[in-house]
Amino acid sequence: MSRVDPESNSFESSLVQWTKTTSGLVLMLLAVQFLTGTLLAFYYVPSVDNAHLTVSFIERVLSSGAWLRSLHHYGSQWLSLFAFLHVVRLTWQHGYRDCRGQWIASVLLFALVMAAGGTGYSLPWDTRAFFSTRVAEGLVGGLPIIGKMARLWLLGSNQISTLTLSRFFALHVLVTPFLILLLLAWRLRAVRIRLIPRQFIVAGLVFLALALWALKNPAPLGPSVAEAGPDYLPRPGSQFLWLYETLKYVPGGLGSIVGLVLPAMAILILVSLPWLKLDFLRGRSSDPQRLVGLVILSTCVVLVVVMTSASYISDRRDQRTREQLARQAAQEEVVRHQPFSPVLLNESAINSSSTNSPPPAYIQFCANCHGLHGEGGKQGALKFPPLKGVAQKQRRAIDDIVALLNDPKAYGLEPPMRSFATKLTDDEKRAIAEWVEKLQP
Ligand code: HEC
Repeated sequence: MSRVDPESNSFESSLVQWTKTTSGLVLMLLAVQFLTGTLLAFYYVPSVDNAHLTVSFIERVLSSGAWLRSLHHYGSQWLSLFAFLHVVRLTWQHGYRDCRGQWIASVLLFALVMAAGGTGYSLPWDTRAFFSTRVAEGLVGGLPIIGKMARLWLLGSNQISTLTLSRFFALHVLVTPFLILLLLAWRLRAVRIRLIPRQFIVAGLVFLALALWALKNPAPLGPSVAEAGPDYLPRPGSQFLWLYETLKYVPGGLGSIVGLVLPAMAILILVSLPWLKLDFLRGRSSDPQRLVGLVILSTCVVLVVVMTSASYISDRRDQRTREQLARQAAQEEVVRHQPFSPVLLNESAINSSSTNSPPPAYIQFCANCHGLHGEGGKQGALKFPPLKGVAQKQRRAIDDIVALLNDPKAYGLEPPMRSFATKLTDDEKRAIAEWVEKLQP
């Protein structure tokens, strides 16, 4: 670096100047998200019947649509990464002490960016989106005390439905962007922005890299829930793989603690860092706030790196999983190049006897044990019998299944199969029973 920099007088402080380009980067990536998101919203319809269809239209018909969506998809992952690095950089350079406003804004911005990513995952309504919505439902529902209420609020009713999708859509395109803009307005008013060429160089290079990456790698779009085979393996986007993997090991309510409560607490501590009196740590460090900040951030890094790698490794190691994922990727690739022919899901819902998609109550209450298509399943040592072919068994006519759902014990069935007497209406029980009867073994 031979250029003489007016702001710095040594090589080292010029390096520090380069690290300060993270804010410009985050701003650039936010602008990309706002722009591509707005363009996508011109075509997207947030309803269970049309979401997958319109996303598919964007991917396959709209010129540059696939690139646009891919920019938005990977842009959100890059944004999470750089918003995090920005917080790390500020912690490293004592931002919590020297510029509190910027510190708070940066931590909150990171939280909002993650929230925007989380709500965005449901929108394409492919099988992956459906499962990620289920994960969100489980996380929120498992919260202590407020879980039940919060779950109802998030879903918009007592099961995942079109209302859930509009809710995620509103959170994704109205609430989080509004909060982000509010935050930016507050910050940009407080500081006089200096446009430094360095910021432009770095932001420009990263944008170029993102644009090329998005061109080479289309954003994933799996089959819609109705089209997915029974062995479809949904995988979340890379910024949430750590959570997905962690939830394999921590059951139920504990998952909500790890997935929601702990991150919220970490954000809270980081935001209040400038005011924390950490005198009891003075013996260990001359700057205890920095110590606490760095410990929290490095714990995040370790957790995310370890769990993300664990997820990749366990997918690679298991031959069946590896083959299934490869098959899915190949299928996605085939679909991508097929001509677009809009199939209205409405029709398939009307003819559901022929396409035989499971009734909604089945998807909500039974599919996590007995499989989306009644193929059965297992969780650790627990085995859930397939429902395919039960019709051939003794005492499994439609009326028997309705009766069995009211009182499984009377049919000799043990927990975890439980009574749905109060959970399901009689119509729902009958719809499920009729659907089960029709399953081909
Ligand atoms: C928590 C997991 C779980 C859920 C949820 C669940 N089941 Fe079961 N189900 C089981 C298990 C385990 C058995 C086997 C029990 C036994 O054999 O003692 C079973 C048995 C059955 C059987 C008898 C199967 C046979 O081979 O005869 C039927 C029918 C059935 N379940 C239907 C349903 C329906 C319909 C729902 C949703 C309303 C449902 N189950 C929800 C775990 C579950």
